[in-house]
Amino acid sequence: MAGTGSVSFHGSAVPADSFLEDVIAGLSRPRKSLPPKYFYDARGSALFEAICTLPEYYPTRAELALTAAHAESIARFAGDGCQLIEYGSGASTKTRLLIGRLRPAAYVPVDISESALRGAAARLAAEFPWLHIRAVTGDFGRPLAIPAFGGEGRKVVYFPGSTIGNFSREEALAFLHMTRGQVGPGGAMLVGVDLKKDPNVLHAAYNDAQGVTAQFNLNLLARINAELGGDFAAERFAHYAFYNVRQGRIEMHLASLARQAVNVGRHRFSFAAGETIHTENSCKYSVEEFQALAAQAGFRGEQVWLDAEGLFSLHGLVAA
Ligand code: SAH
Ligand code: AVI
Repeated sequence: MAGTGSVSFHGSAVPADSFLEDVIAGLSRPRKSLPPKYFYDARGSALFEAICTLPEYYPTRAELALTAAHAESIARFAGDGCQLIEYGSGASTKTRLLIGRLRPAAYVPVDISESALRGAAARLAAEFPWLHIRAVTGDFGRPLAIPAFGGEGRKVVYFPGSTIGNFSREEALAFLHMTRGQVGPGGAMLVGVDLKKDPNVLHAAYNDAQGVTAQFNLNLLARINAELGGDFAAERFAHYAFYNVRQGRIEMHLASLARQAVNVGRHRFSFAAGETIHTENSCKYSVEEFQALAAQAGFRGEQVWLDAEGLFSLHGLVAA
């Protein structure tokens, strides 16, 4: 299909009223929390890309290395001419390594960040002029209409980056279930999963020396101020991230540095000194733990690829 590619855009950004509802609900809880999907406005997506290049943030480097090293075998697993649907595609950097070998009949990147999606689609269209790209802006946590393109290839959902770790284990199970229904019997999933390891390595990855992760976390407050009429003073909150060994997850919080009140539109929230807003979990799995979760969701684990240092895993799953 050389020279016959096309790019189209579908879906729409999460509406401002859902953002407001989620913020009000999250800040009204006894333990305040905010959904991590709201990190990703244009600035948040750019900050995430900067995180990916930090010396301490090993997951991107490890997953890129494993994808480059095993591209042939990963492409063989997915199968020629598949419909490749990617959730949380961001800059589609890892996908670039697979597309040439995979020759998918269509590529459907799905992301909540329209700026990331448009940038990635433009780059991929220039590099792979034969590729059919059907980009979808939307929330992958809800059932999404995936545009039909009339091809016959099997559906393969690609979910790299350990974005699945940003779900709780229960949410991850529900998400895997939903995806199994979407790909149908014989369909497949390729999931990137960050592995459990030395807590010091994990701690450093989310507490980088340059403070980029702190900016990424605090950007959530800037976004609430700009889009929802909030009056958060960024200097009165601190980035706080640690590895919770019992839960097997990094927890990211924003800690209030003083007793204070903050307004969001007509709503007012009180903070005690030291009280936190829980902004993200990043669950870490052993290979066996993730395989067991996938099996519970009705997937058969066919292959697992690791990077040379054993930091990160990519699971090839087939809907049973
Ligand atoms: N896959 C890329 C990016 C990972 S960052 C990589 O491996 O490097 C997580 C990506 O998921 C971001 O691009 C973010 O915008 C997107 N994202 C986060 N929550 C989302 C949601 N609920 N729905 C759709 N996209 C989401
Ligand atoms: C997108 N997600 C998998 C990243 C992670 O590691 O949980 C987001 C991130 N948060 C802080 N640094 C990176």
